[in-house]
Amino acid sequence: MVEILAQTEKYDAVEVAVGKAVYPIYIGDVLEKLTEFVGNSKYSSVMVLTDSNLVKAGHLKTVLDALKKSGKKNSHGILRAGEQFKHKKYYSDMIDAVDEVELDRKTLLVALGGGVIGDEVGFVAATYLRGVDLLQMPTTPLSGADSSIGGKVGLDTDKGKNRIGDTKQPIAVFQHTPFYQSLKDPPIKHYGYDSGWAETVKHAGIDDGLHPQLGTQEKFIDYLEKNLEGLISFDEKVIRHCMLRNAIIKGNIVEIDEKESGMRVGLNFGHTFGHAFETFMNRILLERDPSGATVYPHGDAVGVGVHYAAWLSLLKGAGLTKSQLNRQLDIYQRLEIKTKLPKEAQDTFEEIYSFMSADKKAISGMPQFVLQERLGQLQKTGDAQPDGSEAKGGYYLQPIEREVLKKAFEMIK
Ligand code: GLY
Repeated sequence: MVEILAQTEKYDAVEVAVGKAVYPIYIGDVLEKLTEFVGNSKYSSVMVLTDSNLVKAGHLKTVLDALKKSGKKNSHGILRAGEQFKHKKYYSDMIDAVDEVELDRKTLLVALGGGVIGDEVGFVAATYLRGVDLLQMPTTPLSGADSSIGGKVGLDTDKGKNRIGDTKQPIAVFQHTPFYQSLKDPPIKHYGYDSGWAETVKHAGIDDGLHPQLGTQEKFIDYLEKNLEGLISFDEKVIRHCMLRNAIIKGNIVEIDEKESGMRVGLNFGHTFGHAFETFMNRILLERDPSGATVYPHGDAVGVGVHYAAWLSLLKGAGLTKSQLNRQLDIYQRLEIKTKLPKEAQDTFEEIYSFMSADKKAISGMPQFVLQERLGQLQKTGDAQPDGSEAKGGYYLQPIEREVLKKAFEMIK
């Protein structure tokens, strides 16, 4: 179980132990802590890799100022901003950026940005000089809640997302939540802010997020429901508490199952449908804007996918009740995250079904899903994988018949 290291006025901190890696996650006003952490570290220099949006927002300067105070030599590189540049064809540009500053194995690489930067810089850290140390500094709730924790890094290919990758645990995660205030203005808010809360509601839907050191017995879903207004109004205290619960939930899962042989698959709750639907919507958007700059908000794909998976849970009798399904739906709706299929996707069951059947987790073309036993708990389907090999923390997938999948599809129109 993750350890809660601190709950101070300025920040919360937890420690996660994944495989051989043990690392802290700091959440809140963390810049002074960053200075201290880097100042006391073994590294001779620090390089920050970020994108042009973070430069414009002033966050690169803020972080470089904090690093200067550490007394370590520092440098930075700027990558192109946007999901479309997380493709293998831009890998050499990423490497050129680090080559330029003579980065060596005593340099700490900092990924300052959202999920795209975390994945790109994480992959560079995993591969450059056969691996340099990585510090994740997420600047969106999406990367703070999810991708900065657990070590998944990678790039896309023409065939799909994250097809090249590695598991690269960071040496620390510094989540400076005041940065999130700069996401107030749409459209950035929609991509970076709401998507983080879509994953957060998913976390609360799969785990109660309780911890003996937390100082409260309130389940995360109950806390979230009561404090949605705080998220909508960018209340720092509420954001921080949600991020602490996210770190507890995700940290506990990856501690048990780093390589996704068992319970880590539960983090993909809602994503089998969500990814297929997102791919479909992005294809439509690409036809409209061939530059690839307009993408379907990941949070909306998660909201629709989670609602779909909740319907499957109900239809399959996994335990989730209709009133729990409605509660989850209501939380997404109050956050203005989509849960229903838009018009252009309503007659597309066959197409989305074929995407889902091609998913790497499908068995003989039959898509597999994770279901909810109740709001805050997933349905465990076994102790081992179907081939008898170990499923760390249990097995959670189950194949679902085509007619049930179609029925659930009708329910989310
Ligand atoms: N985002 C899901 C995972 O890290 O496993």
